[in-house]
Amino acid sequence: MKKISMVVAILLATSALVFGSGQQSSAASSTGSTLIGIAMPETHVLRWQKDGASLQHFAQNRGYRAEVAYGDADQSVQNRQIQNFLTNGAKLLVIGGVNDGVASVVTDAARDRVAVIAYDRIIQQSADYDYYITFNNFKVGQFQGQGIEQGLNLASATADNPKYITLFAGSPTDGNAFFFYDGAMSVLNPYIKSGVLKVVGPYPETSKDTANFQRIATENWQAPIAKTRMENLLSNDASGVVLDAVLAPNDTLARAIIEACLADAKYASKLPVVTGQDAEAASTAMIKTGQQYMTVFKDTNKLAEAAIILADQILKGQSIDIPGATLASGDLREIGNTGRKYVQAYLLEPILITRDNWKVPVDAGFYTADEIQANNLQ
Ligand code: BGC
Repeated sequence: MKKISMVVAILLATSALVFGSGQQSSAASSTGSTLIGIAMPETHVLRWQKDGASLQHFAQNRGYRAEVAYGDADQSVQNRQIQNFLTNGAKLLVIGGVNDGVASVVTDAARDRVAVIAYDRIIQQSADYDYYITFNNFKVGQFQGQGIEQGLNLASATADNPKYITLFAGSPTDGNAFFFYDGAMSVLNPYIKSGVLKVVGPYPETSKDTANFQRIATENWQAPIAKTRMENLLSNDASGVVLDAVLAPNDTLARAIIEACLADAKYASKLPVVTGQDAEAASTAMIKTGQQYMTVFKDTNKLAEAAIILADQILKGQSIDIPGATLASGDLREIGNTGRKYVQAYLLEPILITRDNWKVPVDAGFYTADEIQANNLQ
C-alpha cells in the first residue's frame, strides 16, 4: 500500500515538474514530428502566458512538437509568427487572435491545407477555418451581471433609493467583449429600466449601440486605459454621486479600476462592487479581502487540454468528441458566427466566484492557496 502511494507521489511530482518547465518555456520545443503552432495574443493579461504553456504541455504529452509565440497585442507581429509556423511546416494552428487582421494568415493556412482552431477568441470575417473552442461567453457576462445584482441586493432595492453604476467593456477588437457585455446587460437592463439602477456615464443598452459601446470599451484590454477612464469618471460624471458598482469585464481591468477608486477619498473605506473575470490570483486575493466582489473562473487548463484533444482528433481524421465540452447549438450557435460562416464552436462552462467559494480555482489546481496569500501580502 505504502509502495503504491509512493509511486503515485513520484508520478505526480514528475508530471508537476514537466508541467512546471512547460509553463516557463515560450520557445520552440522538439519532441515528436508533427508540428502544432500555438499563437497567443498577448502577455499583459496573465492568463495567456498560462494558456500558451498549457497548450504546449498537452500537445507534447500527445507526442506532438509544439511551438508557442505571443503576439504582444500587435496583429502584424502575430501574423509574422503564424507565417513562421507555416514556413516551419506546422500541420495545425491553435490561434488566440489579436484582432480581425489575423484572417489573412488563416487564408494562407487554408491554402496550405493547415487546419486552424480559433482558441478562446473567434477569428472574425473568415470562412477559412472550421473550429472554435471557448467558454460560454454569454454566461460569463451573465455571471458578472448576477454578481452586481447580488452584491447590491437589487431585487430588494427601490427607485426612490437607486444604486449607481458605471459601465466598462473589453476590447472592441475582441468578439468576446460583445458577448460578455450583452450577457451582463441581460441581467442589469431590467433594473435600469425600472429606475432601481442608474448608469453614470455612457449607457449602451446592448453592444449593438456601437457609438456608446466604443465609449465604454477598453482598447486591447489595456489596464492603463481603464484606469485613466475611471479617474476621469470620478472627477467628472461621477463627481456628484457615490458609485455602488462598476461593471468591469476582466480582472486586469478590475484591479486598475479599484486602484483609481482607492485614490479617491470617497471610496477609501467602502469600494463599489467591482466585477471581474479570469480568476487571476491577484484578484482572488482581493475577493478574499472583499476589495473585488467577484470574478469568473474559466479553467483554461481544461480549455487547453480540450483544444489539444480537438487538434489530435482533427489531425487523425477522427470524429470530434471532447470530454467536458459541448457543441454550441440553439441561440449559442451565434458564438460561432464569424460574420462569414458558422464554425463548430465547442463550449466549456465558466464558474462564478465570490468570497464564498474563492477556493474553487485552488481546488481545481489552477494555482495554490500560497500564491493567493503571496498576493495578499503585497
Ligand atoms: C478573454 C478573457 C481575457 C481577455 C483579455 C478575452 O478574449 O476571453 O479571458 O481576460 O481576452 O486578454
